[in-house]
Amino acid sequence: PGPKPLAGRHALVTAGPTHEPIDPVRYIANRSSGKQGFATAAALASLGARVTLVAGPVTLSTPAGVDRIDVETAQEMADAVETALPADVAVMVAAVADWRVAPAAQKVKKGEAAPELRLVENPDILAGLARSPRRPALLIGFAAETERVVEHATAKRLRKGADWIVANDVSGDVMGGDSNAVHLVTAAGVEEWPRVNKAEVARLLARRIADALGNPG
Ligand code: C5P
Repeated sequence: PGPKPLAGRHALVTAGPTHEPIDPVRYIANRSSGKQGFATAAALASLGARVTLVAGPVTLSTPAGVDRIDVETAQEMADAVETALPADVAVMVAAVADWRVAPAAQKVKKGEAAPELRLVENPDILAGLARSPRRPALLIGFAAETERVVEHATAKRLRKGADWIVANDVSGDVMGGDSNAVHLVTAAGVEEWPRVNKAEVARLLARRIADALGNPG
């Protein structure tokens, strides 16, 4: 067998949720198991890439051959991504919390009135990377949609400046489950992939990434 197709390439992957603290014992978060992101990191590593996996709080073991950086908040994830650059490809699979709270230093006590949370917008890591002078040559986002999946993903690709969007239909039982109904949205159009498990989505995506990086233009 020849050299692995992603040998010498650096791949950056984000995975899992972020946790945004409300006080020392509470947080808000998005729902995400991290399975698709970890599978993607594993698949890229098995094609020979050097992989940096920036992981939010999940209970998954680190895939073989992957450098893992654990983070908690969106801001920490954004900083870790910046530090990991440059990369040939970035695959942003994380379900980043869109808002954070200005956290209280002490545990908020139950009182008469429920506390009001003031939410502040988090940085959009994918959109920021798209505008960065150190933008990876291939920038891939994920989109979890419950309706009009392709339409929303197509708009998201343009809005965020990503090259590809992997669109997931999460109207069924995808969350935390093992299979994924996926469309790949690129500048060339939309592909519907067969319903396969998350590990197979990751292998198909890694193979496409290798093809794209191997054949520039
Ligand atoms: O806008 P939405 O959150 O649906 O976009 C999802 C895509 O954007 C995913 O690739 C996700 O990792 C990325 N994202 C990000 N930073 C955020 C929000 C989303 O990188 N703050």
